[in-house]
Amino acid sequence: MPNAYISGTGFFVPPKIVTNDDLSVYMNTTDSWIRERTGIIERRYVEKGVGPSDLAIPAANDALKAAGLSVKDIDFIIFATCTPDYYIPGSGCLLQEKMGFNEIGVLDIRVQCSGFVYGLSIADQYIKTGEFNNILLIGAEVQSTAMDLSDHGRDTAVIFGDGAGAAVISATSEKRGILSTHMHSEGKFLKELWVEAPASKQGRPRILPEHLDQGKQYLKMNGKEVFRHAILRFIEVINECLLANNLSIDDINMLIPHQANLRITQMIQKKLDLSDSQVFSNVHKYGNTTAASIPIALAEAINEGKIIKGDTVVFASFGSGFTWASSIMEW
Ligand code: COA
Repeated sequence: MPNAYISGTGFFVPPKIVTNDDLSVYMNTTDSWIRERTGIIERRYVEKGVGPSDLAIPAANDALKAAGLSVKDIDFIIFATCTPDYYIPGSGCLLQEKMGFNEIGVLDIRVQCSGFVYGLSIADQYIKTGEFNNILLIGAEVQSTAMDLSDHGRDTAVIFGDGAGAAVISATSEKRGILSTHMHSEGKFLKELWVEAPASKQGRPRILPEHLDQGKQYLKMNGKEVFRHAILRFIEVINECLLANNLSIDDINMLIPHQANLRITQMIQKKLDLSDSQVFSNVHKYGNTTAASIPIALAEAINEGKIIKGDTVVFASFGSGFTWASSIMEW
């Protein structure tokens, strides 16, 4: 049975930098408030007309190049996004057309901040069964257009940003790659981090002028509840993947947590007694880019030489749903 490993990574963030001071023009906030509570200094926003599939193109090109592959070598695309270009069709279809892939299968998945880790699990199964040899996994988001930039939305708006990350998952006969993935959800907390409209259950049309007036089209978050659950679940799911593989905290060479905010990452690090060199963080530069955050961080960690062959790498995520997941691999 072949193993599935990450043969190439890439990322892309839009060029427009939005600093904390830039946000303070629109809302009553300060650079120090945002830094103290989230560690975020700046994030990137797309210009009007740019969707996740556009951000995914340079990320995918870099991942293909790093893997030594071309678009013709890819057998399947998994596109993780909760901010698709359109609701119909999925962003995977747009990417297939824009990059000229063969008429291969494309699968959009949601699961919000856990999208990339869930996607790894899907890719792993297809590779291990021999169905596919090379799968392109994208995490790409345009969250900026779901932000309420008024005082009303300031607790959420300061956190999220836009970006894309890509990984090629390939088959290998070597003893390396994904060891296991672990996925969870708890839908009773759906309203703690959600966008209420447009929605099919609202009736026809799916969004009304009063919904817009009430700001139902914006991402809403109960920050304290999200924080509390995130800490618990991150720790649980990291321990779960270690236990499943008879490994311990000391065996981790690199933990790439979903870049939710720096305080969450720091608390996980402290509770698990991980050293600074075992944990990667870049949330200060990009904010929380939902499904894109882990593949962006992964690509940066590799570019910085922080992950080398043979390393034990752990990914862990938590987000809207709630959903949470982990994946552990031998690099
Ligand atoms: N700038 C300035 N003040 C702000 C603000 C902003 N951007 N956002 C909220 N505030 C205010 C609040 O209105 C409140 O004022 P009040 O005391 O007068 O009512 C005060 O700051 C404290 O708000 P609170 O919600 O208690 O802050 P907090 O310490 O819980 O921090 C978060 C808020 C969002 C930073 C924090 O809850 C958090 O990090 N949650 C997790 C978010 C996350 O990671 N989400 C993604 C998960 S995938």
